Amino acid sequence: TNGLRVAVLGCGSVGSQVVRLLDEQAGDLAARVGAPVELVGVAVRRLDAHRDVEVPEGLLTTDATALVARDDVDLVVEVIGGIEPARSLILAALENGKSVVSANKALLAEDGPTLFEAADKAGRDLYYEAAVAGAIPILRPLRESLAGDRVTRVLGIVNGTTNFILDKMDTSGAGFAEALEEAQELGYAEADPTADVEGFDAAAKAAILASLAFHTRVTASDVHREGISEVTAADVQSAREMNSVVKLLAICELREGEDGQGAVAVRVHPAMIPRSHPLASVREAYNAVFVESDAAGQLMFYGPGAGGSPTASAVLGDLVTVARNRLADTRGPGESAYADRAVLPMGET
Ligand code: HSE
Repeated sequence: TNGLRVAVLGCGSVGSQVVRLLDEQAGDLAARVGAPVELVGVAVRRLDAHRDVEVPEGLLTTDATALVARDDVDLVVEVIGGIEPARSLILAALENGKSVVSANKALLAEDGPTLFEAADKAGRDLYYEAAVAGAIPILRPLRESLAGDRVTRVLGIVNGTTNFILDKMDTSGAGFAEALEEAQELGYAEADPTADVEGFDAAAKAAILASLAFHTRVTASDVHREGISEVTAADVQSAREMNSVVKLLAICELREGEDGQGAVAVRVHPAMIPRSHPLASVREAYNAVFVESDAAGQLMFYGPGAGGSPTASAVLGDLVTVARNRLADTRGPGESAYADRAVLPMGET
């Protein structure tokens, strides 16, 4: 075959939408890539689990390790989430010469450099647009479109679940628990909503955003983190009285330093923002990333930041890019020019 052969690892809410789009958009994808894009395997934990998509006969396997080693696989899509086995599978895929697309924010934030080095060594692409803010194109703009500018601050609403909860509390006076339950029913929340509510998910995304915005390496452990579980109805009400809203913000800042390079400070916490600020208009489970830079000024990237189908949209976009690069025998811009700025220890932010 002259086509690109794809293996998908994980078939949960994102993976099943990736499988659906690969099938439904097969014609368009082939036209955009310049060759057919063919699904050749889907690794799952249990063969008999309920899925939102019907996986074609014979493609399901429980042996992900064997799948990423197969000679007839060119591209691997990792949508399992979590650290292990995702990390070992991505590393094995790269070592086996596959290009990789991942949506794994926790892994990229905890151990991105290990993955980037493996991709560099293998001479393969590793793309992960879906890891931050779902469907919103934000990593490529930071890495590429704004590469000639100097970004000074990034403010993000990057967790749909907590934004949904805070918005519900603001508009309907709903309690925290009731709003959380609704967010879970809509499929925005992580399997364990603690990751959303306590800000771990937003902190992982903040680390990824700061790394790209400031051309350095920030990991989740560098991010000061406070969630929304202590935000009360009274807090939301007093914000209202001050014409403000409470939002869980990821704040990534470049602090002036004596060396002219500056240092990076990253934190996640609930913040009051005036209703007139563009970020105040971000409702329900939507996400937005507000970027300030020297030459461009202020930009806002807005859209659906969670959910299977929006996240799959970003995965498929990366898939088209790595497939094109693969056919052209080139690699996209890597992360190798990193680690040129200090990251302030948590206590000093
Ligand atoms: N649980 C995440 C959120 C999903 O609510 O934003 C998208 O990463």
